[in-house]
Formats: sequence, structure tokens, C-alpha cells
Amino acid sequence: MTNPFQDKLTALSVLNKRRALISANGIDFSSNDYLGLAQHAGLRQNLIEHLQSGIALGAGGSRLLRGNHPQHESLERFAAEFFGAEAALFMSTGYLANLAVFTALTARGDKIIFDEYVHASAKEGIHASPAKFSKFTHNNAGACEDAVKRARDRGAKNIWIAVESVYSMDGDIAPLAELMDIANRYDAYLIVDEAHATGVYGPSGRGLSAVFEGAENLIAVHTCGKALGQAGALVTLSQVLKEYLINTARSFIYTTAPTPLMAVAVEAALKVVRDEPKRRADLLDLVAHAHTVFKNVAGQTQILPLLIGDDGAAFDQAKRLQDQGFDIRAIRTPTVPKNTARLRLSITLNVTKSDIDDLAKALAS
Ligand SMILES: Cc1ncc(COP(=O)(O)O)c(C=O)c1O
Repeated sequence: MTNPFQDKLTALSVLNKRRALISANGIDFSSNDYLGLAQHAGLRQNLIEHLQSGIALGAGGSRLLRGNHPQHESLERFAAEFFGAEAALFMSTGYLANLAVFTALTARGDKIIFDEYVHASAKEGIHASPAKFSKFTHNNAGACEDAVKRARDRGAKNIWIAVESVYSMDGDIAPLAELMDIANRYDAYLIVDEAHATGVYGPSGRGLSAVFEGAENLIAVHTCGKALGQAGALVTLSQVLKEYLINTARSFIYTTAPTPLMAVAVEAALKVVRDEPKRRADLLDLVAHAHTVFKNVAGQTQILPLLIGDDGAAFDQAKRLQDQGFDIRAIRTPTVPKNTARLRLSITLNVTKSDIDDLAKALAS
């Protein structure tokens, strides 16, 4: 008897779309640990001390029940101040944070207008929301404005514009000033997923939306598993929207709170970002070097998409480089549009300039 799941897996193999888990191995050209904080000695020592002084290992429940610990509240107070927002809400992951924002804040009669390349977790939330939605051409503020204007003309209640500040698979930057201006002119909200900017870009690494600090119609999602090297996500927003999420967001309410230890870890990581600006400067220096080595690559950030096109070819290239000791991964459909499979080169403080040169040589051969 054939197994239909096995048959579907075989079909994925034939299409070069089958995935498998492989361990981290080789020089890190694929993680999002941009500032190298996942291995920061001071952060490790801080957690050891908290463990030794008896911090609870698990939260023990949902934040709304017995799972709300002083460490969560301390982190949220610190994060609100650090990011210059009225309030911050700590969630278990960026995925759940995006789900919360889009499903809980939007209502029937609203319209969500999103960049076509916005992250899958935002799309999950958008598709699950009671609002209507439409996408606009990537990074095209004019197309966004047309869609917002249409929604206003048709009587939409709240309008939500959803973008990333630094795009996770393309490494380019959203025209945030124009988008914020559109949001202001049409009385809309701007939701910015800062996953790949938090800790790296903006004043003091506070993300690219930090320049609109305190705007009531701005909601930012700062994930903590990338440059901060930990896990979770901080949604920065107005106090009233925070309380609304606490009361209505199912992915906040019906889940065990992040561990108090993780809240401690994230707060300490934010303090490293604040107190060790040299890390950011060193990273940007490496990024500039990578862009001189990989001249024809689009974007200007730590994420360099080396476009290949075909899914199978991208996979084979990645495997060849992995065999030579470089941990670089192929990104294929459906994560990126058809025929745009790529090697996603991620620059972190876990590599040196000479590692980057070696990778370029290996690629050229
Ligand atoms: C742009 C973006 N948003 C959200 C997420 C989800 O964050 P998390 O990994 O914390 O669930 C990711 C990555 O995973 C991402 O790249």
C-alpha cells in the first residue's frame, strides 16, 4: 500500500523542493546572529547568575494567569524606554507576535495593505484576520498610496500598512519615511516588522522606525532571536493597543509565557546593544566589505541575496559550498518567488573579512 505522505514527499524531491534538517556546520554565513550575541560571554554569565539565584525555569502559565513574572514586566518597561515607545509587549516568538498584531488589532471593515515580500508570519496573521487585504508591489510607496487611497474612498474603517524595514530574503530597505507620511496623511497605521534591523540599524540600533518614535499610529515588531541572539519578540506600540492585545490576542493569551530567564536574557541583550556600539560599527564594516566583494548584489544591508534562479541549481551550489566548509543555505520557492531561488548570504560578527574573501573565491570557482 502506498503512503500518500511519502508520495507527496517524493513529489517534492522531484521538484527539488524537499527540505531536510541539517546541523549548523562550517563558517556561519547563514544565521541571523548578526552581532554575535548568541555566544556573548557576559550574557551567558548573567544567565548563570540568575539560575544560581533561583529564577523560575518555566513561566508556569499564560501571562494572564500565573505566568506573569517580574522579569517580563521589567523587560517591557526597559524595552519601551529603549525603543522610545509608550509601551512594549513581550511575546514568545516573532511569528506569534505578527499573528497577534494582525488578528487582534484589525476588525471587519478594516483594510490591510501589505508589501508583497512581507514575511510569512505577517502573511499568516493577515490571512487569519477579519479585515480585507491586498498587496502592493515590493517597496513601491506609490503603489501603496494608491491602494490606501482606494481603501479610504471605499469607506474602510482602519487601514493598516504592513512592511518589513529590512527584508529578510532580499536585504533591501523599505521607504519608511514615505510610508509613514502616507499613513499620516490617510489616517492609517503603519506596522513595521523590524526583525532584521533591530540591534543593527537606526539610532543606537533601535530599528529603522525609531525615527518616528512615539507616533501613535506606529506598531513595530522587534524579534529577539536575530541580532539580539535570544528568542521572543517585543511589540512596541501605544499603551492602549498593548492592553487591547493583552485582552484579545489569542496567540498571547492561549500560550505559556516565555520563560522569565528569556526575559532576563533579552533585557541584557538590549543593554549590550545600547552599551557596545562597537559591535554595530564592526558589523557595518564587514557588511561594507562584503558589498565590495560581491559587487553586483542588490541591497546594502547584512543580507546579500546571491540570485541563482532555479531551485535545484541553488540547492546544488549551497551543497558545494557547504562541502567546502561554508554554512550557506539555499532559499527556494515558496519562500521566494518562482525562478528567484538564491543563496542567502548573511553577514554576522561570527565571520572575518578573510572568511568573506574565501567564500567569494569558492563561489567564483
Ligand atoms: C521578517 C521576519 N519577521 C518575523 C520572523 C519570525 O520571528 P521568530 O523567528 O521570532 O518567530 C522572522 C524570522 O523568523 C522574520 O525574518
